[in-house]
Amino acid sequence: MVQNPLTPTVLTTPTPTQRLRRLRLNPSMRRLVRETTLTPDDFIVPMFIEEGLRGTRPIGAMPGQSRFGLDTLAAEAKTISRLGIPAVILFGIPSHKDAEGRENYNPQGIVPQAIRRIKEAAPELVVMIDLCFCEYTDHGHCGIVNTPDHRHYDAHLPHGYLLNDATLELLQQAAVVHAEAGADVIAPSGMIDGMVGAIRSGLDQSGFSQTSILSYAIKMSSGLYNPFREAADSAPAFGDRQQYQMDMSNSREALREAALDVQEGADMLMIKPALTNLDLIHQVHETFGLPTAAYQVSGEYAMLHAAALQGWLDLRRCALESLISIKRAGADMIVTYFAQSAVKWLE
Ligand code: PBG
Ligand code: ZN
Repeated sequence: MVQNPLTPTVLTTPTPTQRLRRLRLNPSMRRLVRETTLTPDDFIVPMFIEEGLRGTRPIGAMPGQSRFGLDTLAAEAKTISRLGIPAVILFGIPSHKDAEGRENYNPQGIVPQAIRRIKEAAPELVVMIDLCFCEYTDHGHCGIVNTPDHRHYDAHLPHGYLLNDATLELLQQAAVVHAEAGADVIAPSGMIDGMVGAIRSGLDQSGFSQTSILSYAIKMSSGLYNPFREAADSAPAFGDRQQYQMDMSNSREALREAALDVQEGADMLMIKPALTNLDLIHQVHETFGLPTAAYQVSGEYAMLHAAALQGWLDLRRCALESLISIKRAGADMIVTYFAQSAVKWLE
């Protein structure tokens, strides 16, 4: 008789003792064992505010995002607050720029005005401001640049170098102006050495001991900021930001950056971009014990939207996955352009 070659030999298969699939059996069981969840409390909404604009103006590379005019802020702040989101972070786009970014420390500047409007409409909203000079300088760099005509010119430093200590003085002034206008949190983002210490002492000397500092402690130089530079009109006119933003290849250096900011008095630490630095979000959260923020930047938002527009992936599902991954890594709060959509998706 010919044996059927397909007849299997009889084997005994050991029964798994651990069956993790038991806990995935149905949605309620999955909910019960879920370790990481998103809530509106996790989010900070970035807002671009343009001086002189009436209404809103859409941002090309960031579908669904717009610049806001002052006249739209009250309604927008109320909407955000009604969604249960606790905080916003403001970026100003002044109508006038110069070499020193003077509008950044003008008490009647665009951001101080915006703060007052938002606080009036939604006093419970935590108002953070991104403190940097790149939106205010005509050259688009994050502080004072070394040029022979400048009073801080230093012949020992390269032409075009971002002057660290001269920039610190201006950051201090600008921080006080924004605290005076009612900002709850100052978030310096320029990666200037000593920025947190300078701002803390400036605030304390001016009677703002209760204004907190969220430091962009670890900000990598990144191609993922491109859509933002259109949104905020802050692209550098020459060169790039590699002399002050970090090289993303370095994690020990990143932890030194964070440690210094803690020493200098930061209340909270931020890491950005989020997607490419999940390891550092985790380490900073574990190492320092300070509230840890992550910034899901414009390029992360744009990538997801671009693929979704092609029909290549599901925006809602993938955006929520990326937010969960950031939170699972250790972020206690996330600055994200998806904030409002995420809250609606989660409902
Ligand atoms: C300003 C600043 C930038 C971002 C936040 N604050 C731009 C930059 O450093 O070029 C990027 C945010 C984003 O891409 O969403 N220094
Ligand atoms: Zn900047």
